Amino acid sequence: MKTTRFEFGEYEVLAVPVLADNFVYLVCRDGQAVLIDAGEAGPVFQTLEQERLQLREILITHTHQDHVGGCRAIQERLGVLSTSPAVESATVQMLGTVCRSFSTPGHVATHKCHHFPELGILFTGDALINGACGRILGGTAQQYFESLQAIKALPDETVVFGGHDYLVENMEFALSVEPGNAAMQARLDLYRTDPAAALFATLAEEKKTNPFLRVESVAEFAELRQRKDRFLGR
Ligand SMILES: [Fe+2]
Repeated sequence: MKTTRFEFGEYEVLAVPVLADNFVYLVCRDGQAVLIDAGEAGPVFQTLEQERLQLREILITHTHQDHVGGCRAIQERLGVLSTSPAVESATVQMLGTVCRSFSTPGHVATHKCHHFPELGILFTGDALINGACGRILGGTAQQYFESLQAIKALPDETVVFGGHDYLVENMEFALSVEPGNAAMQARLDLYRTDPAAALFATLAEEKKTNPFLRVESVAEFAELRQRKDRFLGR
C-alpha cells in the first residue's frame, strides 16, 4: 500500500506504511507535523522530505520494536523528542489543536492512544487494529476490556487509525464469530477495491464489525481473545 492522505479541515493525516504491515502517521498543518509511532525511520524521512514537512515531535503508543525501531534515528537526525507511553495521561496543545493521550493497557501493560478531539481522529496503536484488537502480551483481559470501553465512549464519527494492516484476517475472524454479518462482509469486500477506506473506518463502523467491541463482559472478551489466538496466532 502507498501512503494515504486524509483531510480533516486544515489538517492532514498521512498514513505511511512501514516494515511488513505497520503504519506510522503524520498529523500535519502548515508544513509542521507530529509523528505517531516510529517503527522505521527511512519512510518517515522520505515522506517529510517529499511533503516539505518539519517534524515537531513524536508520540509513541507502546514500545514494541515495530512501533519504536526508528525512533532514535529520527530523534537524532531531526533533533526532535518523543513522548514515552509511560508518561501520565495528558491533554496538551499540538499544532494548534488539542491532543489527549490516554492509557489503554491490555495488549501491553503500558499503552497510550492519542486522540485529537477537534479533528475527530484517534491513533490506537495495537489497542484496536482495524476490526480486532492486539494479543494480550503484558496486560490483562480486565485492563483490555476497560480500555476498549474507553475507546467505545468516544464519538461515533471518530476516524480510527491503528498500528497495522490486519484487515483481511481480522474480518475473516470476525465472520467466523458472526457468520453472515453483512457489515463485516462489506468491510472485507471494500478492502479489495479501496483498502484505505476499509482500514481507516469510523468508530461507528468499528462497533459494527469489530467483535472485540461487541462483547459485554471481561469473561466474554477473554474467551474471544483466546479464540483469536487459536485462529491465527495473533
Ligand atoms: Fe505491539
